[in-house]
Amino acid sequence: MVVLISGRGSNMQAMVEAGLPVAAVISNRADAAGLAYAAGRGIATSVVPHRDYATREAFDAALAQAIDAFSPALVALAGFMRILTEDFVLRYQGRMLNIHPSLLPAFTGLDTHARALAAGVKLHGCTVHFVTAQLDHGPIVMQAAVPVLAQDDEAALAARVLKQEHRIYPQAARWFLEGKLVIEGGVVRVKGDHPQQLYAP
Ligand code: GAR
Repeated sequence: MVVLISGRGSNMQAMVEAGLPVAAVISNRADAAGLAYAAGRGIATSVVPHRDYATREAFDAALAQAIDAFSPALVALAGFMRILTEDFVLRYQGRMLNIHPSLLPAFTGLDTHARALAAGVKLHGCTVHFVTAQLDHGPIVMQAAVPVLAQDDEAALAARVLKQEHRIYPQAARWFLEGKLVIEGGVVRVKGDHPQQLYAP
């Protein structure tokens, strides 16, 4: 698998530590902290700086070339903060996963934790889903829910959710690589009756 990151890379690290076969880590930012971790683990890294490309299409074409050099079975977006073109998404359709820090379809987009607090929701969480052309939509593989506590600020809530991201993303990626994920009518089923939800009080 190839993992795409833009920053810290803690989800990528969780996958590596779970023993998943991460062949390469690619970033759109040379200063992404996760690159050093990957290199330290002997994993190939590369940088495709989005600022070097005049258009989204040109960037996505260069990114696809970098990814395809590893012929991955799975592309995992892990805090990769770029909007992808439809062509790019179609190229990896059915073999590209993303983790999003909310219980989709609530709170697509950015600043999910602040928006969850402002909305007063009592449960929040994270979602692993297949990537489709519509941002933060796409068949849901697994979700983890956490409580929103009265004293929470954005950082406390984000940390509680992140801990669960590190549990569900490696699990979802493993299921994919084991051929256990089936998409039927836009809904993901896991062969062998594994629970696709987690509540972490
Ligand atoms: C994670 O919380 C991930 O869910 C989020 O960015 C963070 C990356 O952290 N992704 C998005 O917001 C995607 N729209 P990490 O670099 O430590 O894995």
